[in-house]
Amino acid sequence: MERVAGDFFLDDIPSGHDLYVMASVLHDWDDHHAQRILERCAAAMPPHGRLLLFEGVVRGPNEPDTFKNLDLHMAVLLGGRERSADEWDDLLTASGFRLGRILPTPGLAWIEAYATR
Ligand SMILES: C[S@@+](CC[C@H](N)C(=O)[O-])C[C@H]1O[C@@H](n2cnc3c(N)ncnc32)[C@H](O)[C@@H]1O
Repeated sequence: MERVAGDFFLDDIPSGHDLYVMASVLHDWDDHHAQRILERCAAAMPPHGRLLLFEGVVRGPNEPDTFKNLDLHMAVLLGGRERSADEWDDLLTASGFRLGRILPTPGLAWIEAYATR
């Protein structure tokens, strides 16, 4: 593991690593900024690289879900948002990734993706 301080919008993302992990980072950002972060990761990743996100996955309509409350919270505080499985898929696809598995936990979920370019 390599630990490097930096700004993911401005500084080089360390390249060529097997695994890139972001926990509770992308829900801070709207789709435009989240896509930019993901595109910069995709560009740094080798063909065999894997991305793991640890994030909320919003359930369907009329299902009670704390992430629906957190969605409002993130929007008001940071302009961020929570995302459904389809919205994660759309964001990842638009950013140069293919969604692999979503592994739920009692809280956040592991979202696995692979760079496509
Ligand atoms: C909600 S916190 C999540 C922290 C940690 N991953 C966790 O799960 O507890 C969001 C993180 O994004 C980082 N962050 C925000 N803007 C950043 C930027 N431009 N470049 C790099 N990291 C940034 C913050 O420093 C913070 O650690």
